[in-house]
Amino acid sequence: MTVLVLGASGTTGSRLVRQLLEHDISVRRAGRSPSAPSVHGRGAGAVADVRFDWTDPATFAPAVRDVHAVYVVAPPGVADPEPIMIPFLVEAQRAGVQRVALLSSSAIPVGGIGARLADFVPGWTILRPTWFASNFTGDHLHARSARADGEIVSATEDGRVPFIDPDDIAAVARHVLAGPEAPCGDLVLTGPEPLTFDDVAAQLSAHTGRTVRHRRISVTDLSARLRGDGIPGAFADLLAGMDAAIAQGAEDRTTSVVEEITGRPARSFRSFLSR
Ligand SMILES: NC(=O)c1ccc[n+]([C@@H]2O[C@H](COP(=O)([O-])OP(=O)(O)OC[C@H]3O[C@@H](n4cnc5c(N)ncnc54)[C@H](OP(=O)(O)O)[C@@H]3O)[C@@H](O)[C@H]2O)c1
Repeated sequence: MTVLVLGASGTTGSRLVRQLLEHDISVRRAGRSPSAPSVHGRGAGAVADVRFDWTDPATFAPAVRDVHAVYVVAPPGVADPEPIMIPFLVEAQRAGVQRVALLSSSAIPVGGIGARLADFVPGWTILRPTWFASNFTGDHLHARSARADGEIVSATEDGRVPFIDPDDIAAVARHVLAGPEAPCGDLVLTGPEPLTFDDVAAQLSAHTGRTVRHRRISVTDLSARLRGDGIPGAFADLLAGMDAAIAQGAEDRTTSVVEEITGRPARSFRSFLSR
């Protein structure tokens, strides 16, 4: 069995590649610049690379040839990805792909491309995680501003988010793509505990030993800030609007889906930071 992983160099895709290989499942890593294999699990799964670019439909058919299942990360920064993704799903159907897991978001209602998956593959899952704990690490805007200015900036006010460890998203994806059963449906994935951005700032401060505060700004100012960081206008507005939804309580809940699918509880934000 081979699983094609789109966005294989990204936050969730790279973790999924590692976990599949550790479970002896062969992986085809898709990316715009395929490189020599550099990720190996402890198991016996084989890894190969294929060039894949959402802006180049000629790369779709070779990517899906002879694969059993596909992890789909949508084209980044596109407000309506459906017209780009349908031709890919057509190729997946032609190639006989059996399962697809589409990475979506808890902030995006099912509909659009998610509602179309069943037209193309017998086993389909929409993974709808909440915000990633990893948004406060590495090169993400929150992490850069925490390091440079000692602040994280949001329009979330006192709204709470049950941040999820991206390793947990990858673990769920592995089960639905390569496990014995293919659960069809819409899975909302969360961490175990909703946190405000004030809580996050306090945990970052405790973890790093440097004071990090939460600066509250308006949705309009947040959109301008995101544009200033290179995010296209329509997408910046969409992201800023999601902060407003958080302020109104849209993300203030947890689900037990990670434990139901993987057999172990979702990891906390604190444990993510310490790892
Ligand atoms: N961050 C959050 O809090 C959060 C929460 C919920 C949902 N999400 C969803 O997560 C998704 C992002 O997933 P991620 O964080 O795992 O990925 P990521 O770290 O943002 O990486 C993006 C991936 O997309 C690939 N990519 C970029 N342009 C491409 C193109 N033109 N064609 C093909 N591939 C391309 C990149 O690969 P190459 O550069 O190698 O081509 C990279 O592997 C988004 O759809 C977002 O809505 C994020």
